[in-house]
Amino acid sequence: ARITLRQLLDHAAEYGYGVPAFNINNMEQGLAIMKAAERCDAPVILQASRGARSYAGDIMLRHMIEALTEMYPQIPVCMHQDHGNNEATCLTAIRHGFTSVMMDGSLEEDMKTPASYEYNVAITERVARMAHWVGASVEGELGVLGNLETGEAAKEDGSGAEGKLTREDMLTDPDQAADFVARTRVDALAIACGTSHGAYKFSRQPTGDILAISQIEAIHARIPNVHLVMHGSSSVPQYLQDLINEHGGDMPQTWGVPVEEIERGIRSGVRKVNIDTDNRMALTGQFRKVAMSKPAEFDPRKFLIPAMEEMERLCLDRFERFGTAGHA
Ligand code: G3H
Ligand code: 13P
Ligand code: ZN
Repeated sequence: ARITLRQLLDHAAEYGYGVPAFNINNMEQGLAIMKAAERCDAPVILQASRGARSYAGDIMLRHMIEALTEMYPQIPVCMHQDHGNNEATCLTAIRHGFTSVMMDGSLEEDMKTPASYEYNVAITERVARMAHWVGASVEGELGVLGNLETGEAAKEDGSGAEGKLTREDMLTDPDQAADFVARTRVDALAIACGTSHGAYKFSRQPTGDILAISQIEAIHARIPNVHLVMHGSSSVPQYLQDLINEHGGDMPQTWGVPVEEIERGIRSGVRKVNIDTDNRMALTGQFRKVAMSKPAEFDPRKFLIPAMEEMERLCLDRFERFGTAGHA
């Protein structure tokens, strides 16, 4: 059954668990996520980026979600727009059956230029008002995602963005968060608490406190009824880097957010945990392995079956460790 983000995260808050939000672009990712959810009885957040919508097409995505919910009728599914850049993206998502949208007004429409606070409030408030008329949930974003160690608002290709920021500049401010949710009425809020998008989050093995836990706690205390979202939550596990690099890949050594840190975040009030990179690596690692070890193979299913199995194992692990398992 399809449910909204508000319904799902209200339940997660009541029972103190977190929910991974996995990005979906194709059927294989959808099947892997749903199989993992069924194995451990977990509710699901599927999210599609603008890139996913143009890759698969809105009509294909809509029918894929319909098919997945029909195949797994006992699993609650929230279908969410990831990083909506304007009103049109969010409203067309709802029109195509999404039950939740992220209006990311922390950046301008180009998704590059940092936006002013007033721009963010105004556009997020407009989207929330319209989405709520038709029963959809809304996630907003406040703060700068980046590397707290270096002050770099890291780019996804691993190079740093221009200009260093101080730790204080990057983290979401609890007072501003309270003002933002009062003015926009969002259901969920993505906060900057030390993570960044993509595979290249940390260039050294992270030690100790990666997440700004006290900041998460302070924000949670100010806005207890708005669910906190942690973007950039891939762990970039060493075994997947090795799988890729042992089979002809050439990914520079990198470190992500350790799962234990995410578990601490959940204990401090994080409810939605966005993961894309880890699943990309799981799929690609197995493609490479088949391509290298069976060079005569040309049936795509022989690549995609182990790829789906690798992704299913990763999703199952996150459902179990975030406490989502058993709550479908
Ligand atoms: O935050 C971005 C997600 O990982 C989606 O990436 O825009 O390449 O689909 P994408
Ligand atoms: P990762 O790149 O860490 O998987 O983050 C994904 C994300 O935040 C999608 O919104
Ligand atoms: Zn994100």
